[in-house]
Amino acid sequence: MAADKDGGGGSGRSCFVLGASGATGGVLLRELLSRRLFSRVTLIGRRRLSLGEEASGVTVEQAVVDFERLGEHAAAFQGHDVGFCCLGTTRAKAGADGFVRVDRDYVAQAAELARAGGCKHFVLESSRGANPKSHFLYLRVKGEVENLVQALGFDRCTILRPAVLLCKRQESRPTEWMVQRFLGAVAWLFPTSYTVPVETVVRAMVAIVLQPGKGKVEVLENEAIHQLGKAVPQQGT
Ligand SMILES: NC(=O)c1ccc[n+]([C@@H]2O[C@H](COP(=O)([O-])OP(=O)(O)OC[C@H]3O[C@@H](n4cnc5c(N)ncnc54)[C@H](OP(=O)(O)O)[C@@H]3O)[C@@H](O)[C@H]2O)c1
Repeated sequence: MAADKDGGGGSGRSCFVLGASGATGGVLLRELLSRRLFSRVTLIGRRRLSLGEEASGVTVEQAVVDFERLGEHAAAFQGHDVGFCCLGTTRAKAGADGFVRVDRDYVAQAAELARAGGCKHFVLESSRGANPKSHFLYLRVKGEVENLVQALGFDRCTILRPAVLLCKRQESRPTEWMVQRFLGAVAWLFPTSYTVPVETVVRAMVAIVLQPGKGKVEVLENEAIHQLGKAVPQQGT
């Protein structure tokens, strides 16, 4: 594992983020750093990210790991209060087997290591329609991983099930782009039904960690994500 540190200060609490280089994870990272909810933030990913000035005031550690040998990186998962998981790929990018490996196996292994490392609250970004009995691979895998994570018995486990994410991507995903354009227009009529901006998902995650848990496992559907996202003011407003 390669680990580097920047910054210092904050609340005395620690979290890790899986998927900080992605659309949701990137926005989450910016929120965590600007709100200083945690004094230590560990980014666990397959490559090192360039953070610039954002890290000021919070200790940021980067653990660059080989997800095929995650067990060798248990130290990165040690001693966190909260773990955020925004990891995922697509069938188009990774093939069916690769998608299952990332979205189910990597996530479940990471959650296991987090639990063993003392993490109290695991926050998983899943998907609307997640269902282990679904005929659709995507929804079935999401349902399976939800069950695997829940079974680990975290003190608190929050599962978010967003609908189509509205976000700007660096990479080209033409189908997603078209779906976003179409549903982005539909969102004028039904703002909480078919889509959710990644910023709203992230504010819901922030709200979740700021409020006490309502039971061991909380599942937030898209509507609830919108509601919770509203409960936290945008930064700078
Ligand atoms: N897109 C949607 O409309 C939608 C809707 C509902 C739920 N979701 C779910 O929400 C979650 C987050 O979605 P997103 O669109 O924010 O994610 P994203 O932008 O695709 O980012 C995915 C993250 O996972 C990492 N990752 C992907 N493949 C990997 C691999 N083989 N090994 C290690 N790391 C890997 C990426 O790292 P690199 O940067 O290194 O590739 C990145 O940090 C996913 O689980 C997704 O299925 C998405």
